[in-house]
Amino acid sequence: MRLSRYFLPLLKETPSEAQIVSHRLMLRAGMLRQEAAGIYAWLPLGHRVLRKIEEIVRQEMDRAGAVELLMPTLQLADLWRESGRYDDYGAEMLRITDRHERDLLYGPTNEEMITEIFRAYVRSYKALPLNLYHIQWKFRDEQRPRFGVMRGREFLMKDAYSFDLDEAAGKAAYNRMFVAYLRTFARMGLKAIPMQAESGPIGGELSHEFIVLAQTGESAVYLDRRILELPTPGEDVDYGGDLEPIVADWTGRYYAATEDVHDPERFAQTAETDRVTARGIEVGQTFFFGDKYSRPMKALVSGPDGVDRPVQMGSYGIGVSRLLGAIIEASHDDSGIIWPDAVAPFGVGLISLRPGEVAVDAACEEAYAALTALGKEPLYDDTDDRPGAKFAAMDLIGLPWQLIIGPRGLAEGTVELKRRATGERQIVPLAKALEIIGR
Ligand SMILES: Nc1ncnc2c1ncn2[C@@H]1O[C@H](COP(=O)(O)OP(=O)(O)O)[C@@H](O)[C@H]1O
Ligand SMILES: [Mg+2]
Repeated sequence: MRLSRYFLPLLKETPSEAQIVSHRLMLRAGMLRQEAAGIYAWLPLGHRVLRKIEEIVRQEMDRAGAVELLMPTLQLADLWRESGRYDDYGAEMLRITDRHERDLLYGPTNEEMITEIFRAYVRSYKALPLNLYHIQWKFRDEQRPRFGVMRGREFLMKDAYSFDLDEAAGKAAYNRMFVAYLRTFARMGLKAIPMQAESGPIGGELSHEFIVLAQTGESAVYLDRRILELPTPGEDVDYGGDLEPIVADWTGRYYAATEDVHDPERFAQTAETDRVTARGIEVGQTFFFGDKYSRPMKALVSGPDGVDRPVQMGSYGIGVSRLLGAIIEASHDDSGIIWPDAVAPFGVGLISLRPGEVAVDAACEEAYAALTALGKEPLYDDTDDRPGAKFAAMDLIGLPWQLIIGPRGLAEGTVELKRRATGERQIVPLAKALEIIGR
């Protein structure tokens, strides 16, 4: 992408409405535009990161055996009357009436709808296990939308729903999502710790929140620091096998709980030097709630014995749009964002120090073509801005590499390569720089 053809409205001033660093940086880097409280337009740069995050989530869901579909944002109120949640959900639900006076709502979550879809088609245990997910916008009319994408009213969520014949199979399905979550967040460069949690309005007994530690996090959390050292399951993890040992490692060995379920007495059993009290951002939550929806909504399956029973369900959410904020909170410096390679909007910022000069243009074009061929998605700053402004802009938007090409270096056969995360600079021939980036 050539910057002269792109839409990257950077802000010079720090917007006063932004209270936390990720919100400030997203606004300054031209990623996001507030259209109403908690409702945002995703500008091109923000949109690219959102898509990258979404794709990692999708790949790990698919790997764990979940199947993608897409449900609508608008739902019929009658569906929620069946589960009893239409009245329970309260003011957070955005209720809408259509021209035929039918009650609709903008979905805050999809347990009811997925249960309706399931019961329309599945009658027998032979179709199980089944896990269906989508990545779709949600609306919750939050009392206090704040911190940009962290607590929006409209936000993008991945929500998956598991269906199983009995509790043991349901727990195995829960474990598959649990492991997929560990992998998903690790791939984005995040350390997300599963913590015992309350299940809230979703219901059920078994629930974990996946929490990224950050000072600006909304919840207080308590943990044994040794949990931060546990290894993430690899790509070769066997989703067909027994995942209980992995889940037990992450849930049974070390204390980790959010404030809602915190038990000071149990926490006190952790050695004082290992005890951590911190704040955290919830990036995902898993629930197993058995027949909470399938019983009232009559989603029944027959077992091998021919007897019908309510299907056992779980649900599994990831805050896709919130993750942008969480990643920036975890990875930035005074100059701006530092994107982990896996979610960076562009892989390399290619900076021309003298657009219009034949040799510089030629070298930049060559680098641009080579980087594109490498799949590195370069953003080519071919504008007439001053070098200082170009460097500051690249630092702000946080691309992993900066490749700087100017007449003085070229005269000596070199370009400059900078790694954003470390600030390390190398003066090397273009071919060498391309080789380093391509590693
Ligand atoms: N208002 C919001 N803005 C952005 N992301 C949200 C919001 N509410 C929930 N999420 C994300 O969606 C995930 C699943 O939501 P869920 O656990 O059902 O919501 P909550 O934790 O608010 O009860 C959360 O872990 C969080 O990452
Ligand atoms: Mg939650």
